[in-house]
Amino acid sequence: MSHARYTASAPGKIILMGEHAVVYGRPAMAAPVFQVQATATLTVEDDAAELWIDAADLNQRFALSTAPPADPLALALRLTLASVQRPAPGGEVRVRSTIPVAGGMGSGAAVSTAIVRAVAAWAGQALPPAAVSALVYEVECLHHGTPSGIDNTVIAYAQPVWFVKGQPPQPFDIPHPFWLVIASTGIASPTRETVGDVRGQWQADPTRFEGLFDQVAGLVNAGRAAMLAGDWFHLGALMTANHAVLGQMGVSAPILDRLVAAANAAGAFGAKLSGGGRGGNVIALVDSIAAAAVEQAVHDAGAAAVIITPIGVNT
Ligand code: MEV
Repeated sequence: MSHARYTASAPGKIILMGEHAVVYGRPAMAAPVFQVQATATLTVEDDAAELWIDAADLNQRFALSTAPPADPLALALRLTLASVQRPAPGGEVRVRSTIPVAGGMGSGAAVSTAIVRAVAAWAGQALPPAAVSALVYEVECLHHGTPSGIDNTVIAYAQPVWFVKGQPPQPFDIPHPFWLVIASTGIASPTRETVGDVRGQWQADPTRFEGLFDQVAGLVNAGRAAMLAGDWFHLGALMTANHAVLGQMGVSAPILDRLVAAANAAGAFGAKLSGGGRGGNVIALVDSIAAAAVEQAVHDAGAAAVIITPIGVNT
């Protein structure tokens, strides 16, 4: 019996600014978070009849041939096999992830990305990030309704991206890396639900919501300039303002508002919810002096887990 093994991984992500408005054509910025990642290992066994999927973190083990069409892991595999024009090999795809599930850090998109890359490596086809991203987007659509595509893009490119729906993403370099404290609520962010709620409110009052989306666009444009200039005071203020607009859209929650207030009171330049909202996480922009105090403050305010990460450093 011969074995061959193909391993690929993908980082987590955070949305820096512009979530929700990005679904309506406004710009957003997102960045990969390399401290957390998803890994897929495809072990091909010549004499195995089935391809097994083993996702211990999700308590799942099943054969691809018996998986329901709506299973996201199976869908990522099927779409990639179709794309590389190969039948499923026998063996096992083992999926592991340190990204909090449904925590607003793109765990699903990262797992799909790792699967796509492992299968492409086995098929001997180096898929460019745009092709990986397109396959992962199809999987994301299954569970997220009408995603903008920003999550799969930032994870597949593994670089900070400037994103406008329907346009080629612009990966960008961050000339002055900065620190974020990522405070997780421990509550799943129901992205499909919040995106659906915003859509319902936009349909009921398009003038108000187009106005809110335009406000976000203004903040994101200013945020990009502040980020490129390394002006953390201004960027932080813009992030906190973005959080306030997300609150007006109805996607914040008392715990998210508490974490933002606690981070800012402890010396962050600014803070906001990141991702779909209601749960998930808050990101706070800090310097190395404030990081420890902000970490403590968000713990005290009820954060379930905290990550301190540099943004703009490719490790
Ligand atoms: C979710 O990470 C970001 C949202 O803007 C949804 C999307 O862009 O698809 C809330």
